[in-house]
Amino acid sequence: MVHSAGRLVGYRFVYFPRDRAFNLARGRLANNELAYVAHLDTTCFVPEWRGKGLGKFLAHTALSEVQKLGLHHVFATVAPNNIASMRAMFASGLEIIDFDPDFKGKERYIFYRRLGGDALEPGDVKGAMNLHPSNTRDMHACLKSGFKAIGLRKCEAGWTFELIGS
Ligand SMILES: CC(C)(COP(=O)(O)OP(=O)(O)OC[C@H]1O[C@@H](n2cnc3c(N)ncnc32)[C@H](O)[C@@H]1OP(=O)(O)O)[C@@H](O)C(=O)NCCC(=O)NCCS
Repeated sequence: MVHSAGRLVGYRFVYFPRDRAFNLARGRLANNELAYVAHLDTTCFVPEWRGKGLGKFLAHTALSEVQKLGLHHVFATVAPNNIASMRAMFASGLEIIDFDPDFKGKERYIFYRRLGGDALEPGDVKGAMNLHPSNTRDMHACLKSGFKAIGLRKCEAGWTFELIGS
């Protein structure tokens, strides 16, 4: 939590799913890894405290606390239109590995980072391409065919993912 002059101005919530049904590692990692998972869950700053680097700071802080607990798989879900949240995730070394078109009725990109190592088997990088975050249909197809997003940068059309193939 972040306070200013005694007032709560922002927070980051971390969820430890362990063997619960809602664990983003289910179907993505082996069952014996489920206990080592943390979700970077909801986070929010009051409007006047946004865009000052605090989102990135709390994400970094959360990762270091998660690592101290001996956990090494970090997942997060982010809405395709939430540029600030996605950039904060990329800045913390998470990558988009999947897309859920119906996450509690909403579209969400699935971010992942393995602490102390590379994200899921990266394999050989075969090429790179750009794709707009709101183009979830093509992004979904790219992710299914082995690409993952490693960054988000400004372009003439607004924003574009940097994708690498494995
Ligand atoms: C999402 C949120 C927590 C991010 O926290 P923040 O303190 O504003 O983010 P930061 O200042 O650390 O910026 C993170 C990155 O996003 C970029 N960014 C910040 N605000 C941005 C904006 N409005 N548009 C585009 N990029 C933005 C920053 O430049 C930074 O990118 P960089 O690492 O390449 O420099 C905050 O904006 C917020 O509270 N939003 C409303 C609630 C929400 O959407 N929560 C997330 C879902 S649970």
